Amino acid sequence: MALSGENVAVSPMKLERMLSMKGGQGDDSYVKNSQAQAQHARSMLHLLEETLDHAQLTPPSDTFAVADLGCSCGSNTLHIIDVIIKHMMKQYENSTYDSTPEFSAYFSDLPSNDFNTLFQLLPPIADSGGSMEECLASDNHREYFAAGVPGSFYRRLFPSNSINVFYSAFSLHWLSQVPDIVLDKKSSAYNKGKIFIHGAKESTINAYRKQFQNDLAGFLRSRAIEMKKGGSMFLVCLGRTSKDPTDQGGAGLLFGTHFQDAWNDLVQEGLISSDQRDSFNIPVYAPSIEDFKEVVDANGSFTINKLELFKGGSPLVVNHPENELEIGQALANSCRSVSGVLVDAHIGEFLSEELFFRVSSRATSQAKELLEKLQFFHIVASLSLA
Ligand SMILES: C[S@@+](CC[C@H](N)C(=O)[O-])C[C@H]1O[C@@H](n2cnc3c(N)ncnc32)[C@H](O)[C@@H]1O
Repeated sequence: MALSGENVAVSPMKLERMLSMKGGQGDDSYVKNSQAQAQHARSMLHLLEETLDHAQLTPPSDTFAVADLGCSCGSNTLHIIDVIIKHMMKQYENSTYDSTPEFSAYFSDLPSNDFNTLFQLLPPIADSGGSMEECLASDNHREYFAAGVPGSFYRRLFPSNSINVFYSAFSLHWLSQVPDIVLDKKSSAYNKGKIFIHGAKESTINAYRKQFQNDLAGFLRSRAIEMKKGGSMFLVCLGRTSKDPTDQGGAGLLFGTHFQDAWNDLVQEGLISSDQRDSFNIPVYAPSIEDFKEVVDANGSFTINKLELFKGGSPLVVNHPENELEIGQALANSCRSVSGVLVDAHIGEFLSEELFFRVSSRATSQAKELLEKLQFFHIVASLSLA
């Protein structure tokens, strides 16, 4: 992990090597700051189950393979894989097949993901001597073989024709790179004064939109090769309600207000130069349904079972909603758990600490408004291999 504060520009290969959610189990880690994602995923379980009902059962002599792309290091992925496999076991039980297959689960993320923390949370494998009823009832065991797959989901990760079900949640809004022209001072798309595209000019936004669509196209091309015939895919990523891409919705509030202001504070206080701020951009794009659909249609390999915008709720999970300090800290922790690794690499850990301290104090002073207004919407896509 690059922590030197060497002001690294985020080319695709560099971003792939360093992007990860904050590892470990500290207060600003992803493990401790992913309850909101867990709640949002829970509220969409009925949509996931509908997608799984579209997945064709392959003969039990074949391994049934499930992959979570962008699994990160928390317990969310373990819970979801458990839900998927238990659902598929029931499908086999209710089918004409007289046995269930063996299941494989692949946990995939970029190489800098904290796979160690994830694997330590992995429950032990169930004793294969148990009955189906025992298997379905057991909470503390897993019914699948597990493996980690490091790599970018914008390229090939698995052998062709090998995966029955793909799942990916809260990940596809992360671009493979900040578009080069956005960081090029000579370009009209240079995002001067900003670290995110919320409220940015049209040429900057267009560069991000194009990057998102190229990335999603690469994702779908790869999955179409890797998926078994009759397979299904459930995708969830940040989305926006507005037709106007300069309004990035919840992502805009998270990265475009207090976080942006805190960067400006560092510049005004002379702790960093304005160039240092402007060469940092968050590689996130919240697409509209139309942005997403255009790419799926152009790819042509998948049938759309469902494509909708789903209200996810707030990314802030707090115990005492009246406690402004707690809300301010929750926003800073939430922001840091997803972007802290990139910030550390750009300005070093010391200044990163200063930055997130300012995010927290700014958010504390606007706590009530934040709690009311910070809402995420998600694009939910259920796709089958056509
Ligand atoms: C917010 S986390 C979501 C984690 C998990 N799916 C959940 O539901 O809690 C986003 C994850 O996407 C991963 N990610 C971002 N870009 C990626 C890429 N190109 N290839 C693979 N994983 C990527 C990040 O490393 C991160 O772990």
